Amino acid sequence: MKSFIKSLPKAELHLHIEGTFEPELMFELAARNNIELPFESVEALHKAYDFSQLQDFLDIYYQGMNVLRTEQDFYDLTWAYLEKVNAQNVRHVEIFFDPQGHVDRGISFETAINGIHSALTAGLKEFDISFGIIMCFLRHLDEDDAIKTLELAIPHKEKIIGVGLDSSEMGHPPSKFEGVFAKAREAGFHIVAHAGEEGPPEYIYEALDLLKVERIDHGNTAMQDPTLLKRLAKEQMPLTVCPLSNTKLCVVGDMKNHPLPHMLEAGLKVTINSDDPAYFGGYLNENYEAISPIINDDKNILALLAKNSFDSAFISASEKSRLIAEVDDYLNKLS
Ligand code: HPA
Ligand code: ZN
Repeated sequence: MKSFIKSLPKAELHLHIEGTFEPELMFELAARNNIELPFESVEALHKAYDFSQLQDFLDIYYQGMNVLRTEQDFYDLTWAYLEKVNAQNVRHVEIFFDPQGHVDRGISFETAINGIHSALTAGLKEFDISFGIIMCFLRHLDEDDAIKTLELAIPHKEKIIGVGLDSSEMGHPPSKFEGVFAKAREAGFHIVAHAGEEGPPEYIYEALDLLKVERIDHGNTAMQDPTLLKRLAKEQMPLTVCPLSNTKLCVVGDMKNHPLPHMLEAGLKVTINSDDPAYFGGYLNENYEAISPIINDDKNILALLAKNSFDSAFISASEKSRLIAEVDDYLNKLS
């Protein structure tokens, strides 16, 4: 199954670039920038990755990104991710970044976006991995801060395909950001939002009805609401599910009880993603491997998940067909 997954063409649609910061690279960049990390060693940092909820992770995630200072740092971070997923036959990536996590500590929007974008452009050339960049608003901050961030993004519009919403979910419903998402839609950005990772089904309804999202990031708590499940299935609203993230952040107690099979039975358009792979113990293929046993190692379902990832991407219909055909060719060659 491992080798089937390894060569399966696939897309990643829920990936925080700051969440790909491996401890080894973090120490390297800290030394380059003369920054003292509050951890003694790579091993000590690894040991700190023990979370019982989203906020435990976010505290350490924001601490980690503090090491990123120069355009080269953002480039190196993004390049390291691309090298990893190139070896996993990932064919298309849509990457989140958190501009407020950088601007608020004095790093310019330009520094972050230019470093990330130039690495992705180089990755397209060298690995033939196509890409999109989605900037996320930090939902624990207020809407005015998000509006200022949207204004910073406008001069870089050609480098950014979409706008998302991440960080601490509880107490920060999508409704808090209705105005800024309306502005983002007017500016022509695609719209996504984290909803239903820890927050109630109501937050998913708000993401759909108020923000007018084109994908739901996570969406696990939709399982509590049969009416919502029917709607998500009817609209074929893509869900970017992140299995290793779910167990690491205790959204799901045990992978054996992951809702993925029930999501598929309910007819939802599910995709598999890694979220913050350096912190959650695996990149895209490790996430496919983690859920393979609970779908009885069914290659057709694994292939369906990969096809869903291309079909849910912000790419043209012809790009979708071309990439989906790669999955079909791969299956046909096996049989
Ligand atoms: N949830 C919310 N915010 C995040 C996450 C996540 O899984 N990863 C990085 N920021
Ligand atoms: Zn996420």
